[in-house]
Amino acid sequence: MLTFDYSGAERFFQNGGPDFSTAAAAHKAFSDKSGAGAEFTGWAELPRRIKETELDRIVETAALIRSRSKALIVIGIGGSYLGARGAIELLRPLPGENDPQIFFVGNGLSADYLNDVLTQLGDRDFDVNVISKSGTTLEPAVSFRIFRALLDEKYGDEADKHIFATTDAHRGVLKSLADDRGWPCFVVPDDVGGRFSVLSAVGLLPMAVAGIDVRRVIDAAIAEFEALDRRSTDNPAWQYAAVRQHLYAAGKRVEILACYEPSFRFMAEWWKQLYGESEGKDGIGIFPASVEFTADLHSMGQYIQEGPRDLMETVVRFRKARTNCPVPFEAADADGLNYLAGRDLKEICAIAADAVREAHIDGGVPNLILEVEERNEEGFAALVCFFELACAISGYLSGVNPFDQPGVEAYKKNMFRMLGKPGAK
Ligand code: PA5
Repeated sequence: MLTFDYSGAERFFQNGGPDFSTAAAAHKAFSDKSGAGAEFTGWAELPRRIKETELDRIVETAALIRSRSKALIVIGIGGSYLGARGAIELLRPLPGENDPQIFFVGNGLSADYLNDVLTQLGDRDFDVNVISKSGTTLEPAVSFRIFRALLDEKYGDEADKHIFATTDAHRGVLKSLADDRGWPCFVVPDDVGGRFSVLSAVGLLPMAVAGIDVRRVIDAAIAEFEALDRRSTDNPAWQYAAVRQHLYAAGKRVEILACYEPSFRFMAEWWKQLYGESEGKDGIGIFPASVEFTADLHSMGQYIQEGPRDLMETVVRFRKARTNCPVPFEAADADGLNYLAGRDLKEICAIAADAVREAHIDGGVPNLILEVEERNEEGFAALVCFFELACAISGYLSGVNPFDQPGVEAYKKNMFRMLGKPGAK
């Protein structure tokens, strides 16, 4: 179970500090679907709602892909991409011997990146999971066309058997194409926006192909959402939402998400989208940033310690390490490290984290700690459920609709006009 510690922020509280009970109304508006954007709050029900038959299909499809292919090309962007990548890099950072390599494409428009993936893929057997709720997003659509051509060239009449589409149940170009060509389809539910979709087939199919136990993820998520449903000021989602909004009102405009596990990098990217797209609107919103410790202490550490004092820091910690790594003893002690001999890197890292916390608080950066047991399926589910629910509550506390993203259309309009898309103005 996840714990939240805000004691490192208390020194920065003003006027008696955050009133956690304000989160009660936000939580109620969310759960009784009376708040803004309620039609996109189905994600909190996803783990309970997912049918055994759908989970079976996901697991069976993953087994088929794992048995015949050395690579899976996952095509998607934003909410149709970051959750799966976050999960896979957190839980399976290096593919095991029997795991297909997962390549993520369609998350940009770089020709060089795409060609590098094609080179690395080489002549390996591969399958494609194309993920797009709308089916019209340019980046994945272009990559999909390129990989369709490759599949046609490689597999001829069998090419269609290597494509799995995850899209809207009824609408969109991708859905029509899939129906036409007979590609198996997985559904992005109507009431779930992209950035909240990781616990649907959007995240689960790539995760299962990577060797993650998605049934464990779903079981853990059911338990987490149940635990987080308690209406009480000791609910960590209430506390996190209320504390960060209180700190924002006190001038802490930027929240840095930090972790000491490099494998957390894409979970942080997922979190940035979740909070940035949900809260940054109507001229307000905490700017979500991320750092990877201890590496970034040697680059961004200076800024965090002594730059503008408008930062707050949330640190994700895992209680257990998966492995041990003791520092060896060396008789000569030429590097002077024998005071660490026999001590495990996990212990050294935990002490470093305590030292950083003390320094940052002294330097004027409120420090929040989220701790989960282990870097495993349960730990992943705990983080996802916590961050999603807290995001909804935090968005409602700030007065915005956390479930829309009108601002992302502006660049697309210009881009389609400049590219000469028929009908674009
Ligand atoms: O959260 C969101 O809604 C976005 O990030 C979308 O997921 C992203 O733009 C991709 O959209 P689509 O799945 O329709 O291709």
